[in-house]
Amino acid sequence: MSSFRLGEDEGRSARLQAMLKRRGFFFPSYDIYGGVAGLYDLGPMGSLMMDNMISIWKRRFVSGEGFLLLDSPSLAPEAVFANSGHLEKFSDHMTRCTVCGEPFRADQLLEGALDNPDALKEEELEKALRENLVRCPVCGGELGPVEEFNLMFKTFIGPGTGRPAYLRPETAQSIFLDFSLLFRFNRERMPFGVAQVGKGFRNEISPRQGLLRQREFHMAEGEFFFDPLTSGYPPFSKKADMEVPLVPGDGRGKQVRMRLFDAVSSGLICSEVLAYFMGITFDLAVELGIPDSFMRFRQHLETEMAHYARDCWDLEVLTVNGWVEMVGIADRSAYDLERHMEGSGQDLSVLRRYREPLMKEQINIEVNMKELGPLFRGAAGEVSDAVSEMDPSDVEDILGSGKSLKVRISSGEVEVPRSAVSVRRSVVKVSGERFIPHVVEPSFGLDRLMVAILEHAYSEEEEVGEGPYAVLRLKPEIAPVKCGIFPLMNRDGLPEIAGNIDMSLRGKGLMTHYDASGSIGRRYARMDEIGTPFCITVDYDTPKDGTVTVRDRDTRLQKRVAIDVIPETLSGLISGSLYFPDL
Ligand code: ATP
Ligand code: GLY
Repeated sequence: MSSFRLGEDEGRSARLQAMLKRRGFFFPSYDIYGGVAGLYDLGPMGSLMMDNMISIWKRRFVSGEGFLLLDSPSLAPEAVFANSGHLEKFSDHMTRCTVCGEPFRADQLLEGALDNPDALKEEELEKALRENLVRCPVCGGELGPVEEFNLMFKTFIGPGTGRPAYLRPETAQSIFLDFSLLFRFNRERMPFGVAQVGKGFRNEISPRQGLLRQREFHMAEGEFFFDPLTSGYPPFSKKADMEVPLVPGDGRGKQVRMRLFDAVSSGLICSEVLAYFMGITFDLAVELGIPDSFMRFRQHLETEMAHYARDCWDLEVLTVNGWVEMVGIADRSAYDLERHMEGSGQDLSVLRRYREPLMKEQINIEVNMKELGPLFRGAAGEVSDAVSEMDPSDVEDILGSGKSLKVRISSGEVEVPRSAVSVRRSVVKVSGERFIPHVVEPSFGLDRLMVAILEHAYSEEEEVGEGPYAVLRLKPEIAPVKCGIFPLMNRDGLPEIAGNIDMSLRGKGLMTHYDASGSIGRRYARMDEIGTPFCITVDYDTPKDGTVTVRDRDTRLQKRVAIDVIPETLSGLISGSLYFPDL
């Protein structure tokens, strides 16, 4: 259920933002020093909500899908990002106003004027800005040239400027770097996934959209490693019939509804693994509280894809800011492991075992050093290496044909006596071959999801004096506070009973809020604003019959429940195993 409508009045959005600030969801960081664009604090309610979102994410990926959990530093030495390609390619296009000097992301200035402006190259952006007569949104001045701006924050590890380092722009890299350890931990079984939740840091050019675009934000990423030659992924059968809205990356921007099975069969989605994790992502977004009719998957255009991706689908949610990417689900192929294998010199390949060992013919080149030594002296080793690097079949042909065997070493070309080289064929038992695993990555931006969940949960009801009555219809599992606890009056033993209920629920790990001030209506209203799904009132019947009133936020129904069964009743209501009207 969502009372959200696109293009609705700005007043509603402003009221929601003000309420979220007042009620402790989030606020600008370092505000008393003027704040810093793109940096936000999650307040007491926002922090609890974020924790709940992370628990649900982990439940799905770690307990549900069996991903291994990793927790690595946010800081990494330069070599990591030099080899991952981020140093060279993790950038956005910037243009500055020639009058006031304000920087802007060039593609964002073209949103609305063009489809997918972030797929354009530097020159194309400059041309489009000119043709669309775009000027500085701040002062109306003329915009300067478009240039690449790298989004990573640079720093140094240790004193001085000895060891350049960067804050990670994604949590994924450590998972690739630890691949061998994780694979061994997993007892060398493929496929397998690794999950990491943590902060990502990006020096965004001009962050102006609140939590949607920050310079430090919460990411939850899964990297699923698999053998690209294994046809199919058996768990996909559970998601094959799921119908999802897809916007293919063919540039036409048209949305189609399709079963995931058909999308894979027609080649639109490149693998069952990718489609499976799209299905999981969609389900998880619904579980977190995004209504399914406000979501779609949009495929990246070829030119828009991140440097590591071969195919990428974004889960987008319709917000008051239009369609916004929440999760990127990319096929990173073997890109990252290959790059780090090259950069580090470590073997990151794994063995693909044959069902039965194969008997394979092997050809080896053998070099007689006793003959090469006196002939080439100090260069004998170099000559031997050069011969050994040749294709054994070529050497066999040369030796058979009677031609001379020549190799190139640092001092020039030399002729190697045919008698010093032989080729030996043998049959060996081979149990498998080595390959570099491919990776599919669902990468969740949790702050964006939080904003979308809050927008869709926000509902304004009948006017009450100073303005509309606001309710956050958050799913109970996401809600920061699960239960409000109120003594009807602040006397006659009622606060003691309410206090005991409160203590016992808190002791069981349930987040409650005890409130004894103001009318019961005001207390309900405060709980409705932070999305508390249930409230308990201790009244004058309680001391007599041991029951309390439990009130349901969404239906506003009230039921009398015995104090003894309150903990089980609440946990059933929160997990969804109990339905309030059935109590
Ligand atoms: P955009 O195109 O909006 O800049 P992106 O394609 O660079 O985003 P990814 O690199 O795919 O984003 O990052 C994974 C997820 O992290 C995104 O789906 C988004 O939810 C989130 N994210 C990315 N950048 C930011 C940011 N600056 N602030 C908050 N969340 C972000
Ligand atoms: N790990 C996905 C991204 O940062 O783009």
